[in-house]
Amino acid sequence: MTTLALLGGTPAVTAPLKSYRTMGAEEEAAVARVMKGGVLSAFLGAWSDDFRGGPEIKAFEAQWAAVFRAKHAISVNSATSGLIACMGAVGISPGDEVIVPPTTMSATAIAPLFYGAIPVFADIEADGFCLDVEKVAEAITPRTRAIIAVNLFGQPANLTALRALADRHGLYLIEDNAQAPMAMHAGRFAGTIGHIGVFSLNYHKHVHTGEGGVCTTDDTKLADRLAMIRNHAENVAEKLGEGDYVNLIGHNFRMTELAAAIGCEQLKKAPRLVEGRVKIAEALTKGVAGLDGITAPSVRPDTTHVYYVWAGKYDAAKLGVSREAFARALNAEGVPTTTGYVRPLYLLPLFQKRVAIGRDGFPFNLTNRTYQKGLCPVAERMHESELFYYLVCSYDADDAQVGQIVDAFHKVYENRAQLRDVASN
Ligand SMILES: Cc1ncc(COP(=O)(O)O)c(C=O)c1O
Repeated sequence: MTTLALLGGTPAVTAPLKSYRTMGAEEEAAVARVMKGGVLSAFLGAWSDDFRGGPEIKAFEAQWAAVFRAKHAISVNSATSGLIACMGAVGISPGDEVIVPPTTMSATAIAPLFYGAIPVFADIEADGFCLDVEKVAEAITPRTRAIIAVNLFGQPANLTALRALADRHGLYLIEDNAQAPMAMHAGRFAGTIGHIGVFSLNYHKHVHTGEGGVCTTDDTKLADRLAMIRNHAENVAEKLGEGDYVNLIGHNFRMTELAAAIGCEQLKKAPRLVEGRVKIAEALTKGVAGLDGITAPSVRPDTTHVYYVWAGKYDAAKLGVSREAFARALNAEGVPTTTGYVRPLYLLPLFQKRVAIGRDGFPFNLTNRTYQKGLCPVAERMHESELFYYLVCSYDADDAQVGQIVDAFHKVYENRAQLRDVASN
């Protein structure tokens, strides 16, 4: 009998996986070049040639727009900032409703709150884990102004259908594309199908600049508004000839020249880096085929998945042991799997207590919308019992290690009876 590592056996993965690392000599040289010049940021929060940043920012944005085939790319200091800027740019106002998924990083659902708007949660698909288009359609009311679709785990949401729905109702579609750089849907890059797409360049992503983000759009007016909100809009709106002053109070969401220089190098490597993640994930999918009760990620037709994480589904009834015990056993074998992803966001105290900005709960005092448990049953089920995932963008694994990871899945699967007495969490 093979003993599971959790119970004292030898781990299937023989050496710890290395952290995924994307920095190299090119980034080092780029940083050294900017350091030598001494201008670490050229942005000025006033109307001037430097209002849109210095040479590294401008080069990075031009390169990003060209690669993703977008008319405009506006760099920011994080995707969180980018999402907030989007809400401002499209004119989100107090009392507006913005439809968001509950299964995403919290920034997606929090962005509308900064403009007094109300996040409305629509459930997710049981296979793709992204917004369910039918549930979005049901959630639309006369107060709805925008939909934020998340291309979760590296796979585009059903963007064609969501864009058509948004257009039919005169809504803005914003793509939170933090997790899916270079993923394709219907022949276009994820992040370029909605009115604005938001990418993240934080350390955990396929390509990164430490912290950072980019908004892409084909709409020049939106691009100008994003650039203003990024950089003290109130000082420049008049000069830019913007007639609509709504929400044109600015932040400082500016990226540094150093980050932009790193971003240019990362972008050159992006296709290769993304391909590396896809290769690991596809090997894992192939490797677990036939393990009854474990379902590998499904990929939507006419879509590519870039696997920020490999998110599978676990059927405890079929496997006869809890998802948590199985994941713990995999961890002990050296495979970093995690269960559940985030708690559906409406269950956070912020929503339960209906308190956001100010003592009166603004903007929750503008709505009767409630956030009770049971609101999005699929999201809750995925979190509580089915979803489990391998962190493709956190670790590197060569072919031999991917083989060992697959072996670990088989080992735990075949010996799962040993787990029956292991506590489920
Ligand atoms: C789906 C999603 N949206 C937004 C963000 C926020 O990104 P950032 O850390 O760049 O602000 C993240 C970060 O993990 C994310 O995964």
